[in-house]
Amino acid sequence: MSIQTLMVVGAGQMGSGIAQVAAVSGIRVLLHDNSLDMLNKGMASINTHLYRSVEKGKLTADRMADILSRIQLTESLELAEQADLVIEAISENMALKALLFHRLDSICRPSAILASNTSSLPISEIAAVTERPSQVIGMHFMNPVPVMPLVEVIRGLETSQEVFEEIYHLSERMGKTPVEVNDFPGFVSNRILMPMINEAVFTVYEGVATVESVDKVMKLGMHHPMGPLELADFIGLDTCLSIMEILYEGFKDPKYRPCPLLRKYVKAGRLGRKSGQGFYSY
Ligand code: CAA
Repeated sequence: MSIQTLMVVGAGQMGSGIAQVAAVSGIRVLLHDNSLDMLNKGMASINTHLYRSVEKGKLTADRMADILSRIQLTESLELAEQADLVIEAISENMALKALLFHRLDSICRPSAILASNTSSLPISEIAAVTERPSQVIGMHFMNPVPVMPLVEVIRGLETSQEVFEEIYHLSERMGKTPVEVNDFPGFVSNRILMPMINEAVFTVYEGVATVESVDKVMKLGMHHPMGPLELADFIGLDTCLSIMEILYEGFKDPKYRPCPLLRKYVKAGRLGRKSGQGFYSY
């Protein structure tokens, strides 16, 4: 089966990025969100990024119009009935994801594949709420989706080889480099990235260095494009905390305990770029 129509559920930063790269690669996209405001914001962000490419001479205006014509915004989840694949990109909340997958399972055609862009929740547990666990898989894109080449393709316990291969090839068709990963907390990316970010927060918390100094060490010393605290603000401090909690809960190992300063910032509403204040002000 080849994927012709994709529904992306959730029009936030990740969902709109996924919709954009899929449309660029010639796939028809239904971008769904419960909120019309989120849909409009997601579409505006796609427009902005594509228009920037036109200004830079990397894309013609005709091709941009062609890409945009492949994206349909919808507040109706029922349109998932038309999709060969649904990629869920809603907030990292197991109860919400379980509800959504249960609904999608009843709406979608029996042949449709259901994928989650979760950054750390167990794919096998999401799959278990459906009647099609062999057709449920993880497809973890990195932020910003149009720029980052990686997709972690996560096999749930029951994911079939056929579905795995379909999603692996689709990721390549979308211009990405898929990497096969098994279903354990944080997969590979966040199991390694988040403890680094958490340790950076600890170095500030313990007074080892300032925020700026920690970031400078990692940028100039390790050639990271962003320092860990700048990156934490970019990802969202609430997301970082929630992933650390999942690692801590999943492995029951104290090495994953979230730094109290990270917790304090999230409780105070300092969520990073999206709230205007994190380790830096925006
Ligand atoms: N959306 C789309 N395109 C974007 C973008 C965005 N949000 N931000 C930048 N770009 C594009 C720019 O248009 C530019 O494109 P061209 O090369 O075609 O001109 C290109 O990216 C480079 O951008 P800039 O020159 O403005 O800025 P930069 O060189 O500083 O790069 C960056 C910006 C790509 C974000 C870079 O700082 C970077 O790679 N940062 C690290 C990002 C990272 O680690 N992401 C993973 C986060 S973890 C995650 O996502 C997993 C999880 O589960 C939490």
